Amino acid sequence: MIDLRSDTVTKPTTAMRKAMANAEVGDDVYAEDPTVNRLQDLSAEIFKKEAAIFMPTGSMGNQVAVKLHTNPGDEIVIEERGHIFNYEMGTPSVFSGVVVRPVKSTNPNGILTWSDIEPSLHIDQPYYACPTGLICLENSHNLAGGSVITVKETAEICINAHARDLPVHLDGARIFNAAEATGESVADLSASADSVQFCLSKGLGAPVGSMLLGKKDFIDEARVWRKRMGGGMRQAGVLAAAGIVAIEESPEKLVVDHSNAKRLAEACAELPGVEIDLTTVETNIVIIDVSGTDPGALRICELLEEKGVLAIPFGKAIRMVTHYGVSESDIDTTIDAIREIIC
Ligand SMILES: Cc1ncc(COP(=O)(O)O)c(C=O)c1O
Repeated sequence: MIDLRSDTVTKPTTAMRKAMANAEVGDDVYAEDPTVNRLQDLSAEIFKKEAAIFMPTGSMGNQVAVKLHTNPGDEIVIEERGHIFNYEMGTPSVFSGVVVRPVKSTNPNGILTWSDIEPSLHIDQPYYACPTGLICLENSHNLAGGSVITVKETAEICINAHARDLPVHLDGARIFNAAEATGESVADLSASADSVQFCLSKGLGAPVGSMLLGKKDFIDEARVWRKRMGGGMRQAGVLAAAGIVAIEESPEKLVVDHSNAKRLAEACAELPGVEIDLTTVETNIVIIDVSGTDPGALRICELLEEKGVLAIPFGKAIRMVTHYGVSESDIDTTIDAIREIIC
């Protein structure tokens, strides 16, 4: 099967498997796993943040950050298609006791500006309003089609937020894709945010894991909350070893995923009844609005599966995500399959 459902389906490379087999390990709850410690130090160095902590998942990284930045009863502001709001199963309210205030971006690519955010803030309001406690950004923005926020756009929001004593958390699950697309480093893309989470287990290809980064005190506290959430792992060096290979070897491969996504999007854009804004296809995610076609999203995905291609229906659209498990010739096969279904 050509699996375009997500970049989370990537399997560990031979180099990762070898590193995992040979990993030196210890008990990470005692901070004694040398490989986890190396992954944390390497991540902090690359992102130019004071400290980093290995998390089992991106969701846990995000939710520990939400917990640490807020107080129960606060609101967190996020773009209405943000992952923390839509796909983390209400955890901000379950775990941190906060309310999510979704904000619509005036930009079709889902990228927020300060003028989108400002009207939704509750600062210096009467005591009976929910105070805003945190702003969450996402780079790249998954549900908006993998669109990217530049260093300048992130900084504009962070400067304004900090002027009002509001912290900013960056969900950088795919920040290495954003870096490849913008030509800006992951350190610069996250420099103005107070905390950043990135995933090792998506386009970078590690089997498990995410990193949460920020100031040292913040990460020390994150270690407490990770344990409280059940995320204290023991000989996690076996997993961290793959994460180190992912950081060292995978970012340079993302350019191929992006050009595959672009080619797929361009071919789909020519089909009758298909809507796709090619300017939003900046990274490895292609969201194709097929509401003008006869079969519709669900049926197209079923027919694609019969032809050996997996994609995900997203309401009236289908989502395809490129990754290193999908070759250029797989993209040709996918384009042929879609053309046969939508003609
Ligand atoms: C933007 C974004 N943030 C966070 C996550 C959560 O990552 P995990 O599946 O590791 O919990 C995902 C997963 O798809 C994502 O796309």
